[in-house]
Amino acid sequence: MADNNQNPHECPDTGHEWDGIRELTNPPPRWWSIALYLSGLLVLVYFILYPSLPLINDSTKGILGWTMIKEYKEDLAKVEARRAPFEDKLAEMSAQEILEDEELRNYAIGSSKVLYGDNCAACHGTGGIPNEGAGYPILADDDWLYGGSIETIMETLASGRQGMMPAHRAMLTDEEVDGLVQFVVNSSNGEATEAGWQLYNSKGCVACHGADAKGVRQMGSANLTDRIWRFSGEPDEIRHTILHGVNDASNPETRVAVMPGWNEKLAVKLDAQKWDEEPEYDGTETERLSETDIKKLAVYVHQLGGGE
Ligand code: HEC
Ligand code: HEC
Repeated sequence: MADNNQNPHECPDTGHEWDGIRELTNPPPRWWSIALYLSGLLVLVYFILYPSLPLINDSTKGILGWTMIKEYKEDLAKVEARRAPFEDKLAEMSAQEILEDEELRNYAIGSSKVLYGDNCAACHGTGGIPNEGAGYPILADDDWLYGGSIETIMETLASGRQGMMPAHRAMLTDEEVDGLVQFVVNSSNGEATEAGWQLYNSKGCVACHGADAKGVRQMGSANLTDRIWRFSGEPDEIRHTILHGVNDASNPETRVAVMPGWNEKLAVKLDAQKWDEEPEYDGTETERLSETDIKKLAVYVHQLGGGE
């Protein structure tokens, strides 16, 4: 049997012995002891430099005065310092100018993603594609109710939109409603009949949806000649729109389609600009998003769909 009780360093014996195994007093290896003392020292240094001992309401501060929240705030300040030159430029430029400057455009698009997610995605969906049948327009296509120029998008965001189509149930006979539903279905397939057009014209649809039924942007009336549906292309749903209208407050079954406004002050300013006037504020205008944020979002929406 091997002798497991070798004692090459001739260390003294502690006198303990179990089953023939003797306990000696040889010291641990030097590297090990140094590491032990160093780690003790490190604890002491850490203890002095950083917050360590918990007290009743607080803790010891450490001579560096470091705190996690302070570090976070410093990092945040660094990010903001890097953004500041961009933000300052955006504040002074028009949305059109931002669109034309590649660097600023990319910055605006990048920083809009959070803004869009926080304020718009609930209705318009991520990436501008809402849930089907939710009743919100797709922003990621080049079919526009109100228009896809950067100025029009700015107006849409600043003042909001609320297209209005009156309920027609009291104005039309059952046959006329059937005929108009058929007309809308046919028209979306490019197969509208002469009789259908006559009905469309004589019942006043033409006044809002236009002579070619492609919609009128000043009113946000939908294009009836394509298969991009604002609400739905199902005959029953088309019938519902015709009977009960859109945003017609006098009809409880009306479709509701409200795009909230985000900056009334900017809305007044943009409106005045159109007429080359000085904006007149009455002091009650709300600003849910800053003008700069709206510019960023307008640039973002413009590049999402086919901006014009
Ligand atoms: C409460 C739901 C809701 C929210 C939130 C919302 N929208 Fe809308 N948005 C609508 C509706 C409804 C319409 C269509 C209005 C109409 O039919 O008259 C619309 C229309 C638009 C249009 C016009 C599209 C066109 O074809 O002309 C744009 C652009 C737009 N929204 C962008 C945004 C952006 C950007 C945000 C975030 C700042 C936003 N919306 C937030 C509901 C919403
Ligand atoms: C006073 C203006 C007005 C009149 C009159 C009008 N509409 Fe509309 N219509 C609108 C507007 C505005 C919308 C879009 C509403 C929205 O998107 O918020 C709309 C939407 C529709 C839609 C929904 C299209 C889709 O893509 O889902 C249909 C269908 C429609 N109209 C058919 C008709 C027919 C048929 C008539 C004639 C009986 C008519 N409208 C008369 C303003 C009008």
